[in-house]
Amino acid sequence: MIIEPRMRGFICVTSHPDGCAQSVRNQIEYVQSKGEIDGPKKVLVIGASTGFGLASRIAAAFGSDAATIGVFFEKPPVEGKPGSPGWYNSAAFEAEAYQAGLYAKSVNGDAFSNEIKRQTLDLIKADLGQVDLVIYSLASPVRLHPVTGVLHRSVLKPIGATYTNKTVDFHTGVVTDISIAPCQDDDIANTVAVMGGEDWAMWIDALKAENLLAPGVKTVAYSYIGPSLTEAVYRKGTIGRAKDHLEASAFSISDSLKSIDGQALVSVNKALVTQASSAIPVIPLYISLLYKIMKEKGIHEGCIEQIQRLYQDRLYTGEAIPTDDKGRIRIDDWEMRDDVQEQVAALWQQATTESLAEIGDLEGYRKDFLNLFGFDFAGVDYKADSDEMIDIPSIS
Ligand code: NAI
Ligand code: NA
Repeated sequence: MIIEPRMRGFICVTSHPDGCAQSVRNQIEYVQSKGEIDGPKKVLVIGASTGFGLASRIAAAFGSDAATIGVFFEKPPVEGKPGSPGWYNSAAFEAEAYQAGLYAKSVNGDAFSNEIKRQTLDLIKADLGQVDLVIYSLASPVRLHPVTGVLHRSVLKPIGATYTNKTVDFHTGVVTDISIAPCQDDDIANTVAVMGGEDWAMWIDALKAENLLAPGVKTVAYSYIGPSLTEAVYRKGTIGRAKDHLEASAFSISDSLKSIDGQALVSVNKALVTQASSAIPVIPLYISLLYKIMKEKGIHEGCIEQIQRLYQDRLYTGEAIPTDDKGRIRIDDWEMRDDVQEQVAALWQQATTESLAEIGDLEGYRKDFLNLFGFDFAGVDYKADSDEMIDIPSIS
């Protein structure tokens, strides 16, 4: 079929298999262009199909020849209706990995559940024995708690007071003021339950209990801080409480790994266009200004550039891993540079519907957004028929 982007609200409901494959190939080429990393050899990536998690899988496989197991929650295609982008990304990733002679298998289902943990543990046991890196990169709006059976929903709200600021509808370019009412009583606890560190700890406990973690294992989860502009809705909002919990969990997980000389870390990453971040109000306006400034300065990065740098310059240098005073790895260092933040803050004051096309990188935002779904890649013939019924080799 011929597949075109179809928008519904802030998401795109179609995705392009050949474009997703192109995206994966581009990321592989980038990693290979940076040379070999003396990195992990057997890797579990939880949240492996899109965004930072996919980049983590690609950088491990094609940067240091790692065997990878990827866990994700994606929709397979049905005749006439494309699957989700993460489905096609994972199909393309496995095909590329096999061609390169690398082990790659995937597990599709709810990573919060006992069943998917069981299935993944069995796969590691059967095929890899142990893993030496576990990346935790889930971004989900809901979590069905495996012990209590409660369905938790995360919210993106300020705490204590209404937050009013500018935002942009990146599809139309219209800049408006938005007011977000403060969260209700249970919102913080629910958001922490979904996006905090409890499930990360459950994964590591389960892996350790069955001796599936190699001596010296590392496990890394991803966090975000960002500027004071977005603080009320992000870092000091409900999602920020979840990130506080995730960051605190790194210390307790590290304690639990002492006997095998393992370490749990959080990496604070740069703001980027992903399915998760485009749903947060105010963030798209910030990102479009940030992209403009970082591209002008020649320091813009996407997920793959960020994670390649995380492995090569932070995790696998052979030296102690550099962290900030709270024990976090910072690969948001270029985003948070004073000169970058001062210029973004100045542009923020000027941003209107009329000025944004000029002072911000709306085009770059839109392109990245379309790219998430496999659209707008050079080298892909979007007028041609493409086969939507692509399988993930290790799943079907
Ligand atoms: P994403 O939406 O691109 O990726 C989410 C991944 O989680 C996908 O592989 C998806 O299949 C998987 N997933 C979601 N629910 C699942 C479930 N129930 N079971 C199994 N898999 C499930 O998100 P992104 O942006 O890559 O986020 C990953 C992490 O990076 C998050 O912790 C996020 O907060 C963090 N981060 C994101 C930044 C951004 O600007 N996008 C910046 C800094 C950190
Ligand atoms: Na991810």
